[in-house]
Amino acid sequence: MTSTDLRTQNSGRQYLPQLTKERSPNQELLPLTARVNSRDCLEIGGCDPIALVEQFGSPLYILDEFTLRTACRQYREGFKRYYSGESQVIYASKAWSCLAVCSIIASEGLGFDVVSGGELYTTLQALEKMGLDAGEKIYFHGNNKSVDELEYAIAVGCTIIVDNWLELETLVKLCAMAHKNSIKIMLRLTPGIECHTHEYIRTGHLDSKFGFDPNQIEKVLAYISQNKQLDFIGLHAHIGSQIFERQPHQDLAGVLVKWMKKAGEYGLSVKELNIGGGLGICYTEADDRRVLKNG
Ligand SMILES: Cc1ncc(COP(=O)(O)O)c(C=O)c1O
Repeated sequence: MTSTDLRTQNSGRQYLPQLTKERSPNQELLPLTARVNSRDCLEIGGCDPIALVEQFGSPLYILDEFTLRTACRQYREGFKRYYSGESQVIYASKAWSCLAVCSIIASEGLGFDVVSGGELYTTLQALEKMGLDAGEKIYFHGNNKSVDELEYAIAVGCTIIVDNWLELETLVKLCAMAHKNSIKIMLRLTPGIECHTHEYIRTGHLDSKFGFDPNQIEKVLAYISQNKQLDFIGLHAHIGSQIFERQPHQDLAGVLVKWMKKAGEYGLSVKELNIGGGLGICYTEADDRRVLKNG
């Protein structure tokens, strides 16, 4: 190694995205627009981070709009290329829920996972500005939604991802009180799929606290089919975050299709299969980017 190599290594220049070919934001440690400017300083989206800190203070979160839009487009195009049916890419708004981010995501045509009344409110503001319908775009998740949050979700007509018996029975009561003929629901189940990610961000194992135990599926489907105000649109399962392999996602799709057939036996037609979670992103050099590159 020469002293020039050492200087490069210590400066972090090796992490700058190559501008010569299209890169995936998942695989980069820095935003796609990161570069070293003529004054030998880091620049992101044409801005000098030091000037931004001087203006806004520190710590400061900086979002590169180009990188975010590129990620949205690559997911959208990926589905179009590999799947001929209808598809929807969904942004988990807990990643960053503010009006500006939600507006960018909505303008890229993505849907939204929300997990609180606050996230629902923020997402609605962004959609309303663009004349988009909450019913088509928002999925309300969570294993401990409050009665207030459920009432709010019913009032705005978003899809509620039902997580447990208490929630299911509460929804039926709230629906009657609100004199609603129909509320859109999906059912979240724990698929029993183990994936190689950190145990704290695994959500799909059988004793996960997120979703119904699949041993209950017949009972739950029977209950839904007897309560006509529940407009059952489909099934959801989430196996975890930071998943760099494709196999667990394929396994999950197989499990969901099996449950879809089961729903049919109860006269419930599945219009949507909601398959989670997202592909891993590289936080450090050690994260394995090969799988995503080939994908
Ligand atoms: C329903 C749901 N959506 C999204 C996420 C975020 O997952 P990811 O980071 O893989 O997008 C989670 C994480 O637990 C989740 O449960």
